[in-house]
Amino acid sequence: MTHIAIDGPGGAGKSSVAKLIAARLKFIYVDTGALYRAVGYYMVSNGIAPSDKEKVIAALPSVKITLKFTDKQELYLCGKDVGDKIRTPEISMAASTVSAIPEVRAFLLDTQRNIAKKNNVIMDGRDIGTVILPKADLKIFLFASPEARAQRRYEELKNKGEVTTYEAVLAEMNERDKNDSTRATAPCVPAEDAILLDNSTLDLNGTADAIISLLEKRKKLTKEIRNYSFWRAILGAPLRVLFGVKLIGKENIPNEGGVLICANHIGMRDPVLLAASYPRQVRFLAKKELFSVPIIRGIITAFGAIRLDRSTSDVGALKKAEEMIRFRQTVAIFPQGHRNPSTPVGETEFKRGASFIVSHTGCSVLPVYIQTKNQKYGLFRRVKLHIGKLIPPEQLLSREGESGYEAIIDRIREAIIDLEAKANGEVK
Ligand code: DC
Repeated sequence: MTHIAIDGPGGAGKSSVAKLIAARLKFIYVDTGALYRAVGYYMVSNGIAPSDKEKVIAALPSVKITLKFTDKQELYLCGKDVGDKIRTPEISMAASTVSAIPEVRAFLLDTQRNIAKKNNVIMDGRDIGTVILPKADLKIFLFASPEARAQRRYEELKNKGEVTTYEAVLAEMNERDKNDSTRATAPCVPAEDAILLDNSTLDLNGTADAIISLLEKRKKLTKEIRNYSFWRAILGAPLRVLFGVKLIGKENIPNEGGVLICANHIGMRDPVLLAASYPRQVRFLAKKELFSVPIIRGIITAFGAIRLDRSTSDVGALKKAEEMIRFRQTVAIFPQGHRNPSTPVGETEFKRGASFIVSHTGCSVLPVYIQTKNQKYGLFRRVKLHIGKLIPPEQLLSREGESGYEAIIDRIREAIIDLEAKANGEVK
């Protein structure tokens, strides 16, 4: 089964885009907001204030919800099709209020999970990626500026003949956002492994295309990671033993998240040894010349290397690296641009590719210093890989524009110089 989770604030276009994707991929679209709306509607129509927690909880056993999936989702509340009655601004607020009650969320949990058990689904809501389908194949957190979202909702309501103003919709939206994102149970926040997608400037088709392409990439990636793990399990240990690799500072390696490794570059073995020793798949930015050697091309492509043209500022390669980081992968770059055996890091220049990746993705950087005797590779020479402390984005993104890029790469360079000094026993 394939599961796509789309979370995000109201008015980001989750339901329209999810419907479109479901039609294209022949998936079932599950609108989970409708379930909360149905509970809210039930309370309001039975004279129970949505904020009266005890009464709402007491009434839950009588709320009988059935979903039917034809070409759309039909919701029956106690046997009756509620249609658009759950779509009014009053019921939107009621849904938001009841959705903050943990018992209401627990009450609706199985309904949502059971549908996903038996079907390929695209499900939208607030906590699909975090709570309902934590193992979803693709998690998207879809958002847009409050103004763009209010404008869309306003048009939608106007088309349905509702009497309202843009200002009223914006105010209601801001209030609901606050409710939904600050509540204690299952707040509307992106899952750790969700991809953030801002569709303020994308139309419906553009957003659907972006998500479908992300799903295809995600599936390809999952296959690639499986192959990589297989080869890493077979080749990792022999390579480490053959080259006498010692990993120092293992505790600094993060278990998850998109990370950019920046290392000094002494020779062709650097990427091989780093890949053989690092616990997660590492995708190197590799110079394009390597891709013209048939066997090497086969190997590095299989290992997920990203082709880099060093003669230009290769925007395509940087974009690819950024995409991998958004998929929470580990990317590695040698900011020195080419091999620098024997020269101390402090005496070499660093290129700014890493700065672009960091400033576009807001990722953390893991500095690595590769050390061998006289900084040269040779037979039976031990190699030490010094892993530095992870540098969080807050320490990198202090300034914007050109001076910001300089600051980022300087900070990374300093971290590698520090590692070099420690490795050489210059600092205790
Ligand atoms: O997506 P919507 O506007 O139809 O959702 C109505 C309300 O239900 C919304 O204010 C938050 C809540 N909701 C939720 O808490 N969790 C979900 N999975 C879906 C909706």
